[in-house]
Amino acid sequence: MLTTFMRIKSIRNLKSLRGKTVFLRADLNAPIKGRIIKDDYKIVAILPTIRFLLRHNCRLIIATHLADGKATTKPIAKRLASLLDKKIKFAGDYNSGRLAKLREKMKAKDIIFLENLRFNSGEEKNDSHFAKELAKLADLYVNDAFAVCHRNHASMSAIKRYLPSYAGLLLEKEILNLEKILRPNQPLISIIGGAKIETKIALLNNLAKKSYRVLIGGALANNFIAAHGFKIGKSLADKASIKIAAGLIKKYKNIILPVDVIVAEKVNSDHAVFKPVNQVKKSEIILDIGPGTVKLFAHFLKTSQTIIWNGPLGYFENEHFKHGTMSIARLVATRSSGHAFGAVGGGETIQALKMTGMEHYIDWISTGGGAMLAFLGGEPMPGLRGIVK
Ligand code: 3PG
Repeated sequence: MLTTFMRIKSIRNLKSLRGKTVFLRADLNAPIKGRIIKDDYKIVAILPTIRFLLRHNCRLIIATHLADGKATTKPIAKRLASLLDKKIKFAGDYNSGRLAKLREKMKAKDIIFLENLRFNSGEEKNDSHFAKELAKLADLYVNDAFAVCHRNHASMSAIKRYLPSYAGLLLEKEILNLEKILRPNQPLISIIGGAKIETKIALLNNLAKKSYRVLIGGALANNFIAAHGFKIGKSLADKASIKIAAGLIKKYKNIILPVDVIVAEKVNSDHAVFKPVNQVKKSEIILDIGPGTVKLFAHFLKTSQTIIWNGPLGYFENEHFKHGTMSIARLVATRSSGHAFGAVGGGETIQALKMTGMEHYIDWISTGGGAMLAFLGGEPMPGLRGIVK
């Protein structure tokens, strides 16, 4: 049994919650095309907090950002209403006359939904005036937006100066589960793929210190393979990233690289070639890990008591280059729920995991992409300040 080493100010422990007006900061930044929501897992994940607050007769003012600062949150409010089977009043922006009217008439268990917080320039500037205006709407602030806790934005940070602030149930669960990675039952096996090494330096350093082995794949691996002295042909990599990878390999002896790869001459080729990692030609691009690497990674995963996985191991969107990622997803799922505690995070990683249909075996699927990397990397989390100690 793991003990919690962070203290969380949770709404579960709040005695005076009943009947309060709550500003609920959610992260419902779901992928939307036109007005169609492509994946609603973030909306589903916040339902327990909303239901909990409604059971306590609260009035809710719910707000979220969307990564596209110009996109409306109307489709999100609509989907939330249908999932809750409850009417939600869309109020528009925080300073709209409609909001003032709706706010005045609010009764217990009413829900008002605000427009995309990033419509206001004050949000991303962590502007005090904007935060104060949001705070005026409620008696309490509840942060249930783990996925944006790494951002120093007004509705995540400055607002806490003006309202008593608490964690929602999802935020609490994220912390309780992710701290099992920071204080792991050993052996901890970390699997890190995807691209952009510069966004993962703190994570790689922190996990390399805590892990028995760090298994590297995806475009990220190209930098390590090149740093090791092997040719990577036309694969995605750059000088600065290779230098970072070289530094990491020198510092940590538990970083495990692919031993074989799947290559092609074009990203959208249907001619995939398997080869040992030291035989990549000038004209080739590395697009997946090979079967020997899957076997090697499986060997380490079989020993694990704790697993963290972030980032696909190859270009899994293409039928020919998805096998490495699918195999690792199945291995992580098989080892989770019993043998080991398995946690997975990151939009693309979850998408890949869902392609196996085995996501239900994973112990914790984080709603945080960048936020999970920052939390596990020990980076500042302005959204948690004052709520999680
Ligand atoms: C996410 O999807 O990672 C969060 O909603 C944060 O979004 P952002 O990267 O646009 O701040």
